[in-house]
Amino acid sequence: MSVTLVTGGAGYIGAHVVRALLANGDRVVVVDDLSTGFADRVDVPLVPLDLAGAGASEALASVLEEERVDSVVHLAALKDVGESVADPERYYRVNVLGVVHVLEAMRRAGVRELVFSSSAAVYGNVDSESVDEDAPCRPINPYGRSKLVGEWAIEDATRAWGLRALRLRYFNVAGAGGRHLQDRVAANLIPIVLDRVRRGEPAQVFGADHPTADGTCVRDYVHVEDLADAHVAAVQALRSDSTGDDALNIGTGRGASVREVIDVVGAVTGTTAEARVVDRRVGDPAAMVANPGRAHRLIGWRARRDLREIVRSAGE
Ligand code: WQD
Repeated sequence: MSVTLVTGGAGYIGAHVVRALLANGDRVVVVDDLSTGFADRVDVPLVPLDLAGAGASEALASVLEEERVDSVVHLAALKDVGESVADPERYYRVNVLGVVHVLEAMRRAGVRELVFSSSAAVYGNVDSESVDEDAPCRPINPYGRSKLVGEWAIEDATRAWGLRALRLRYFNVAGAGGRHLQDRVAANLIPIVLDRVRRGEPAQVFGADHPTADGTCVRDYVHVEDLADAHVAAVQALRSDSTGDDALNIGTGRGASVREVIDVVGAVTGTTAEARVVDRRVGDPAAMVANPGRAHRLIGWRARRDLREIVRSAGE
């Protein structure tokens, strides 16, 4: 039985990844500082550890050795774009130092397979609607920049000491695999709109004059269970293949506009979800949709769940 260590495994995405790995037959150990995670989300050994703190690489190396870990999935990080603009030092400390300590610990313990949680935010504003992994990375906020620095550190480690790594660039993750795994903060469009509809308030549309078909921003919404499956496929690919130094887009390849999302929320909840157009949000690209072809070619992964299922499961 293979052993996988998941950092950030008590988080919204992490808990789905843990469950998918268990279903795959892995033994799973979680490391989480519980700053935004909840221990009740997972039922596997949980080591409380701040990966950016002093002594973290030594502590993590001991866990890797004691638990005889084969592969690491590194998700523990901060992910609020607005917060990263106000407090960049914190984002570089947690997101970059966290990666550095994970790499040091893996090198020390001789663990060579890593799946890294990266983000479409590494691309910044893109010229074309469909983004592939060769698009230039020009992140426009400290969050995206901290993720890109993490990717660079990982790439350099693959060259230096035989680390094999896949960097997964998530697009807009939403939905849930059951009530207790839900995202517990409504910080993104789908949970925000669900919240407002439940309160009888109109959803806010950040700009209806973008250069898109209906004037509202287009994004690629990917179900968190599909995303979790992508991690399992990535871990499997690293185990069965000797290569491994790639970035992979994790999205559906289909875009949905803010208006379409609001309509689906209305259809799923059986309400007329009202929309009020307000000003554009600063820094929002008009459209951001993945070309997920490389993930399909390299790890055999493809998203299977649609927007309706994402919204339905997010609203449970
Ligand atoms: C989606 C669309 C908004 C709220 C962010 C990060 C990205 C990644 C995912 C972590 C946008 C519009 C939103 C509302 C609206 N994070 N919107 N009314 O900005 O695409 O991506 O989260 O890895 O790095 O940037 O996601 O959910 O905030 O917004 O009209 O009340 O919905 O303008 O077009 P975003 P989001």
